[in-house]
This record gives sequence, C-alpha cells and structure tokens, in this order.
Amino acid sequence: MATTPAPKTFRVKSFGCQMNVYDGERMSELLAADGMSPALEGEDADLVVLNTCHIREKATEKVYSDIGRLRREDGSAPLIAVAGCVAQAEGEEIMSRAPSVKVVVGPQSYHRLPEMVADAAAGKRATETDMPAEAKFAALPKRRKSAPTAFLTVQEGCDKFCTYCVVPYTRGAEISRPFADLVEEAKLLVAGGAREITLLGQNVNAWTGEDDKGRSIGLDGLARVLAADPDLKRIRYTTSHPNDMTDGLIAAHGELEKLMPFLHLPVQAGSDRVLKAMNRSHTADSYLKLLERIRAARPDIALSGDFIVGFPGETTSEFEETLHLVDAVGYAQAFSFKYSARPGTPAATMPDHVPAVVMDERLQRLQAALNRDQLAFNQASVRKTCEVLVERKGKHPGQWLGKSPWLQSVHFTGEAEIGQIVTVKLVEAGPNSIAGQLV
Ligand code: SAH
Ligand code: SF4
Ligand code: F3S
Repeated sequence: MATTPAPKTFRVKSFGCQMNVYDGERMSELLAADGMSPALEGEDADLVVLNTCHIREKATEKVYSDIGRLRREDGSAPLIAVAGCVAQAEGEEIMSRAPSVKVVVGPQSYHRLPEMVADAAAGKRATETDMPAEAKFAALPKRRKSAPTAFLTVQEGCDKFCTYCVVPYTRGAEISRPFADLVEEAKLLVAGGAREITLLGQNVNAWTGEDDKGRSIGLDGLARVLAADPDLKRIRYTTSHPNDMTDGLIAAHGELEKLMPFLHLPVQAGSDRVLKAMNRSHTADSYLKLLERIRAARPDIALSGDFIVGFPGETTSEFEETLHLVDAVGYAQAFSFKYSARPGTPAATMPDHVPAVVMDERLQRLQAALNRDQLAFNQASVRKTCEVLVERKGKHPGQWLGKSPWLQSVHFTGEAEIGQIVTVKLVEAGPNSIAGQLV
C-alpha cells in the first residue's frame, strides 16, 4: 500500500446507539489530542471514521454504501477507518471487501486509533479487535468541554445473550467502570458545561462498584453521589434490563430529585413463549408487576421500551399479546423493529422465520398503537408547568429547544440561553414535540 500524507483533519460519523455517540466523542477527543482538527461542515476530511452499528442487517449494508459514497469526484478518497460493532463482527470481511478501508478498530480498542491511523498513512493497513475491556478508558484523554447534555459510559458489554442479539459478541462481557473514574469523569463533564448526564450501558442498571468507603453500591448509589454536585441538575440512565431493576434503583426514583422521571425498559414482546425463546428471562406479567412498583415510587414516570415483531415462530395471536401489553402500559415513547436474523446468533437458525410482509403488517399495527400512546402522553402533559433544559436554538428566530423532565422535546420563544434550566408551561402537544411558554 502506498504512503499518504498524515491526515490533518478528521470526521467521525456515529451510527446506532448512544454508546456509539459517546465512543464517537471520545475518538474525536483522542484525534484532537493527537494534533488533528475536526473538519468544518461541508469540508472534505482527510480521515473519516465510520463508527458503525451491527444490530440489524440494514445497519451493516449501510456501512458498505457509506464507504462507496466517501469517494470524491476526482476519484480520490479520504483515509477510511471503520470502528464500532461492525468492525468488531466483520473486521476481516471489511478488509477484504473494501480495499479503501485502511483501519478496522473494534469498540474496546479505539484508544489505539491514532497510532493505527499513522500506520495506515505509512502504508500499513491495520485491524485491531481485541477486547481488553478496561484498558481503553484509562488510555483516553481527560474530558474537557461538554454540551449541556452529556453521555457517560459506566457499564459496557452484555452477558444476557438474548437469542436474537449481537451485542454480547460485539461489545463483549459485562464490565462496570470503577466508581472513582466515573466520579472524576462526571466532574470534568460538569466543569466543561454539562448540566445533565445520561449514564450509559448496554445493561446500565447492572452497574456495580465500590464507593470511596469500600461499600458495594449499585447504579442508584452512583446516581446519589453524582447528584451531590450542585452544578449537575439532571441524571438519566439507559438502557436497562428488567431483571436488573433493583429495589434501590426503584426507590431512588421516588427520592432523588435529580433523577429524571423517565425509564427506558425494553420488554421486546408480550408473549411468554416468545420471551422464553428470546431468552429474556422475564414474563409479560413480571414486567407489568415491575412497572407497577416503579410507578408506585414515581407516579409520573414516563416509560419507554423496545419491541421486536416477527421473532421466528411468532404467531398472529402471540404478536397480539404484544399489542395487549402496549395497551396495558401506555408508553410515553418506544422503539419497534422487525426481527432481523443476525449471523451467529441462536435465533438465526430457529425454524419458522416470519415472512417479510407479515412483519411489515405487524410493525405497522404496533407502531400505530405506540404513536397513539405517545400523542396521548404528550397531550396529557398540556397545561403542566415544568423545567426545560435548553439544548439548542430552534429554526425560528428567538426559538429554543430543550427537554422536559419526561424527555419530551419542548420548543418555546423568549429570553434563554443554552444550558439554562427554564420554567415553561406546556401549551400544545404534537406526536413528537410540545410547544411551551416561558413562565
Ligand atoms: N441492551 C439493550 C439494547 C440492545 S439493542 C437492551 O437489552 O434493551 C437495542 C434494541 O435493538 C433491542 O432492545 C431490540 O429491541 C433491538 N434488536 C436487537 N437485536 C435485534 C435483531 N436481531 N432484530 C431486530 N431488533 C433487534
Ligand atoms: Fe442484546 Fe439482550 Fe444484551 Fe440487550 S440484554 S444487549 S437485547 S443480549
Ligand atoms: Fe449497535 Fe453496537 Fe450499539 S450493535 S446498538 S452500536 S452496541
């Protein structure tokens, strides 16, 4: 491979979940610390990092089309690095299928990105998909600037092995980052401008650690310590698994004012047979009972979830149990997906795959129900007065956008600034946003 000048500018494009957004930020900080600068909007970058997601089939296909699209009009291309979960799962294949890709780096090794980019510029294509778990965080530069809302990865990996899911293979085994590191990173984020921190993990509520007195604590304990910082106004966490929802965390929702009344708690399906085949280890009923306890602790909590329709063998009446569960919960928002067979997962080789047209129809029915509930939840918020954390300017002059405690997008006009918490009366609700008036 020919040598190329060392790249001076970079762009990181992240796909998939919020952890990829976090990783993308950390990669940008790493490249900047190495002397490179982010490419300006509309400007070609010398280095493009595609921080990929492997969760569904389309996500992988997208990577190859993105690689193709990076070719410039004069036939040249930037130095391309593929990071993230597709890199982890299909690194070898990418290297052979896409000669324009010079670096492949998995989610647990991206601290090595600068040296790999230097190697690539010197003519050596490089792949790194080791899983040294904690080594990565220690090797990253310290946090500096932050938007008002920041992500903080506290837990990574998954040991649950739901039969449809690639995450245990792409992110590796569950690890919890040490308490002291998290307290320090949170402090730096707040000093850099963060007013809200969302704690991230594939199973974030499985986080455990030892506090500064050596006591064993869970996510609620961590949240309580972080909440003591007066400049940090809001704490959120995502994504949780129903089985790791501890009594302590449930209680914290009733006690800790800074813990926002929002919970993303994926259920995936409403049929116990399907849940068992998915290896979810909860039933529809145990999930509903859990929600009852959470709502008892925090009655106004907004609930969110993930759903898969058309898991292998799912019958129409089993799918309809998902609709019943949705009716019973009344979600404030949710994500729903057609089952996508992922190579290497147990479900991929299960019998009775559901035809695409049937999945389409089920997804439409499910989304109609979820959209109905989302609008209803937003409409029920009208006339409430609440705090909004201002995140950015809106499209119209004098307009601002931010989030309510229940994670609804709120827009309003008037005097405000980014990072401020303002009091807003909610006046008109749409399916995806709410109009508010400054109080
Ligand atoms: N750790 C989280 C999220 C994992 S990925 C959790 O367990 O909740 C986010 C969502 O993608 C999952 O909740 C699931 O709804 C969906 N998903 C995962 N694998 C999928 C597949 N093979 N096909 C379709 N959707 C899938
Ligand atoms: Fe995937 Fe299940 Fe782990 Fe979530 S809990 S990341 S769906 S294996
Ligand atoms: Fe996708 Fe990996 Fe996140 S597969 S959803 S980027 S953990």
